[in-house]
Amino acid sequence: PAPGWSISADVVVVGSGVAGLTAALRCEAAGLKTVVVTKARLDDGSTRWAQGGIAAALGEGDSPEQHLDDTLVAGAGLCDEEAVRILVTEGPDAVRRLISTGAHFDTDDEGGIELTREGGHHRRRIAHAGGDATGAEISRALVEAVRARGLRTIENALVLDLLTDADGRTAGVTLHVMGEGQHDGVGAVHAPAVVLATGGMGQVFSATTNPSVSTGDGVALALRAGAEVSDLEFVQFHPTVLFLGPDAEGQQPLVSEAVRGEGAHLVDADGVRFMVGQHELAELAPRDIVAKGIMRRMQEQDAEHMFLDARHFGADMWEHRFPTILAACRANGIDPVTEFVPVAPAAHYASGGVRTDSQGRTTVPGLYACGEVACTGVHGANRLASNSLLEGLVYAERIAADIAAGHAEHGLHARVPDPIEQPAHPERPAHPLLAPEDRFAIQRIMTDGAGVLRSAESLQEAADRLQRLHTDARDALDENGKTAEPGVDTWETTNLLCVARVLVAAALLREETRGCHWREDHAGRDDTAWRRHVVVRLNPDRT
Ligand code: SIN
Repeated sequence: PAPGWSISADVVVVGSGVAGLTAALRCEAAGLKTVVVTKARLDDGSTRWAQGGIAAALGEGDSPEQHLDDTLVAGAGLCDEEAVRILVTEGPDAVRRLISTGAHFDTDDEGGIELTREGGHHRRRIAHAGGDATGAEISRALVEAVRARGLRTIENALVLDLLTDADGRTAGVTLHVMGEGQHDGVGAVHAPAVVLATGGMGQVFSATTNPSVSTGDGVALALRAGAEVSDLEFVQFHPTVLFLGPDAEGQQPLVSEAVRGEGAHLVDADGVRFMVGQHELAELAPRDIVAKGIMRRMQEQDAEHMFLDARHFGADMWEHRFPTILAACRANGIDPVTEFVPVAPAAHYASGGVRTDSQGRTTVPGLYACGEVACTGVHGANRLASNSLLEGLVYAERIAADIAAGHAEHGLHARVPDPIEQPAHPERPAHPLLAPEDRFAIQRIMTDGAGVLRSAESLQEAADRLQRLHTDARDALDENGKTAEPGVDTWETTNLLCVARVLVAAALLREETRGCHWREDHAGRDDTAWRRHVVVRLNPDRT
């Protein structure tokens, strides 16, 4: 739709989690006229829900090198080592700057930052706040800083598409604002630099830890704009999400890895620990290994879930260290102080996303990406626990520095993950719009065919069913000019279909099991054929 109003800025930041607000604050501090646009309210994204914490080599005896090693192991051979090195070396100072911005972390008896452990970490290096409410504290501090600095923010605004100039450079975004006042309806923010920090796409599955706003909007926008996306097949399923029944849909309560970090055990239907002997770190193995261990035992026992046993923590520790999780369990009739907690894996994090270089530049000049929407190369085939808040911080700061240095006209540097597979050119999904009811069909298709366990058969069926949704909508448009009524639900559903189709195409292509991509028909990891990335760019000539 044609914009009915417009404003101008030097930078428009899309999204308001740790990555978006950090980028915005740093851009503003560098003297750039910055506008933050966010789909709901400033604190409504995934950051607020992060429990465990933020990983950084802050503890005695720890070092960036050890953090690098753990990250590379979790990433199962697909991390970009340079990107990880940047993350782990710049991480500790980025956390200190976050503290200077106003975030309060839990401290130990000597007043130092208290650190816990999570899966895949050989050291205690996870800083946390409010026990298990780390993201909420980070979000609070950043939102307060944004308000205190008087940054221009537009809430309840879904960004629709990227605007480009005649040379293909970024020129701003179009957006739909839901509300009253001057900037209502479809408008535009003109700017030569756009920072995508829109978060993840967990809502593409039926059950997820992600909030309802995580509908893959940034990846879909980037694809429509001709940017490259990479590694979309690597969806991380968090091993321990509170199991609320087989038909539970939408956002589900997380039971942080930190609960296992503090000594909780995973037990099966007979109360037997089953991760011991599967990996040297047992319950604290990297997340993909724990998720697979749970799924395998569920299959063996024909069970819908496994259990966490943390009764030995006692009431004091539960109340002091994990108040959020305790409340979520009790709200659902489970008392972890006296009972096992039922848990099962659910969609949690997109390890892939819009492909960037180490400055956060995408392949479209002037378009940047950071946080979960981006694929910087840090996570490889499986993100290490609590590296995501850190990645958002570090790469947002690098983007702000790049824009402030006047480099927004450049596209992604020549440093690319190598070698690269670029086979998939699915149809460009700009039209037609999908009806909001199709969202549930997409989620069911993805959960059935592209969930924790995948095979060529399940993925092909998912691809066919998604294609039918697209074709039906396109036929209705072609035959009688009918398309779903434009609106936020419609655009979100259209974005979900776009990312689902690309995700399934990438997962079909990768005929191996690696990291969080588990192919039942290709059980092993194949380093000869598959130590490379699936990079997708939509063909602009097809609709
Ligand atoms: C958790 O607290 O288990 C989540 C940490 C993460 O996803 O990095």
